[in-house]
Amino acid sequence: TRVFISKDMASLALGADAVAQAFAEAGCEVVRTGSYGLFAIEPLVEVETDEGRVAYGPVGPDDVAAVLGGSHGARIGAIGDHPFFARQQRFTFARCGVTDPLSLADYTAHGGWKGLEAAIGLSPQDVVDAVKASGLRGRGGAGFPTGIKWQTVLDTPADEKFIVCNADEGDSGTFADRMLMEGDPYCLIEGMAIAGHAVGAGHGYIYIRSEYPFAIEAMREAIARSAGKIAPFTLEVRVGAGAYVCGEETALLDSIEGKRGQVRAKPPLPAIEGLWGKPTVINNVLSLAAVPFILAEGAQAYADVGFGRSRGTMPIQIAGNVRNGGLYEVGFGVTLGELVNEIGGGTASGRPVRAVQVGGPLGAYFPPSMFHLPFDYEAFAQAGGLIGHAGITVFDDSVDMAHMARFAMEFCAVESCGKCTPCRIGSTRGVELIDRIVAKAPRAAGALETMPQIRNASRSARSHDQEVELLRDLCDTMKHGSLCALGGFTPYPVLSALDHFPEDFGGGNALPE
Ligand code: NAI
Ligand code: SF4
Repeated sequence: TRVFISKDMASLALGADAVAQAFAEAGCEVVRTGSYGLFAIEPLVEVETDEGRVAYGPVGPDDVAAVLGGSHGARIGAIGDHPFFARQQRFTFARCGVTDPLSLADYTAHGGWKGLEAAIGLSPQDVVDAVKASGLRGRGGAGFPTGIKWQTVLDTPADEKFIVCNADEGDSGTFADRMLMEGDPYCLIEGMAIAGHAVGAGHGYIYIRSEYPFAIEAMREAIARSAGKIAPFTLEVRVGAGAYVCGEETALLDSIEGKRGQVRAKPPLPAIEGLWGKPTVINNVLSLAAVPFILAEGAQAYADVGFGRSRGTMPIQIAGNVRNGGLYEVGFGVTLGELVNEIGGGTASGRPVRAVQVGGPLGAYFPPSMFHLPFDYEAFAQAGGLIGHAGITVFDDSVDMAHMARFAMEFCAVESCGKCTPCRIGSTRGVELIDRIVAKAPRAAGALETMPQIRNASRSARSHDQEVELLRDLCDTMKHGSLCALGGFTPYPVLSALDHFPEDFGGGNALPE
């Protein structure tokens, strides 16, 4: 009997290796795949039958006989019929979970290389036009139109150009880049080869964070196996060393060049003077991995899905205190409430949802009263936030939002590259300010007074409301005076926490003790 079991990092953390071993010892042929992305049903086992694959999950190493006998209680049936998957539109993650990630035969059999073959038959300008027509926007967070970025590189004459994939994925609560690299590495390779043809670049780098050892291994192996397929284009992996700021594109380029990762002033844009001063396409994993579909199925097929100016699909990552954590790829326009309550199934703790942070540690917090917001770059920007890399982190009513605001400032202080003052110094002053605000809140008079930082903080002469004003002023300075998104976006979590949850800061709606 042939069975399929994921070897994605998350599945391994849930015990997939022991399950795979048990099936192998029972005489099964075990195919290791990527994950479909619903972690509540991992380790997931799919058994090949005459009616197609039948899924069971979660499965333990002692469940082999029950699964093979068809009597296991966690029988799902065809994975596509499961409510978590039925409504998804898997353009980018179509193969993830289905195929053996490193099998070239599997990749080809499931539509692989069609996009590259189509691209090679087109002129570079036609490929760039197709990406523009698809409406694809940068999936790393900023949402800049990918086709326009490629056009800038195509139009800049140079003896050498580069394609760089940003796989640093430092945002907490995000894992789509990792899942794609582990579960379908050839898709990223194909997207990068298409980009190379489109702009006239001969070589590419995939910059992966060191915290992703399985993705690094998968990409290196996949590059070696597909070298002939993408020639004359060549690729190599570069591994980061743990700095969040190296996810910022210019710091990342410095890091590849062997320097300490520090943000460069823009302009010049990397599209004009990037890696070693040469025109460089630098895109997130998900932007590049969306491209094979666009070239294979046509730009219109991608553009037909979406909402407003946000076209195509977004692999959304649902994490935190949530029942159905995982990856959910769907066209833009799904509401935040649907994502959290219906698809995510509410909190894992069973307590009411109080806040959702969208877009990683630099994203805003939203209360349930804003759950009508459609997943769309513009809608989130208008609401004082961002969709970023589409990681959403759910919190129940036990969360202390002043603590979360303090955490944002602290995170910025720890990860700041130190190049500009509002971020380097402002973040530390921000931590102190939030401590003072909490110390001066009416409810803080008791227990919190025993904490040393709160005791010291209460010594300043300003009132609680004046400290809040000062925090807003500091956020304004950080937002407008920082060189990159780390300092510039830290105000999002801080101000949204302050605006939507003032009671946690001892503000207007303070709850009585
Ligand atoms: P940005 O708005 O400065 O730039 C977006 C991209 O467009 C850049 O690649 C830039 O070089 C390019 N660009 C702008 N104008 C161009 C032109 N005329 N021609 C060609 N290219 C052009 O944003 P930035 O600072 O690169 O990214 C900020 C985002 O990063 C935030 O939205 C945040 O959500 C996200 N982020 C993502 C993380 C992750 O783990 N994926 C971590 C931290 C932040
Ligand atoms: Fe460095 Fe912070 Fe300035 Fe960005 S905002 S350049 S991380 S100091």
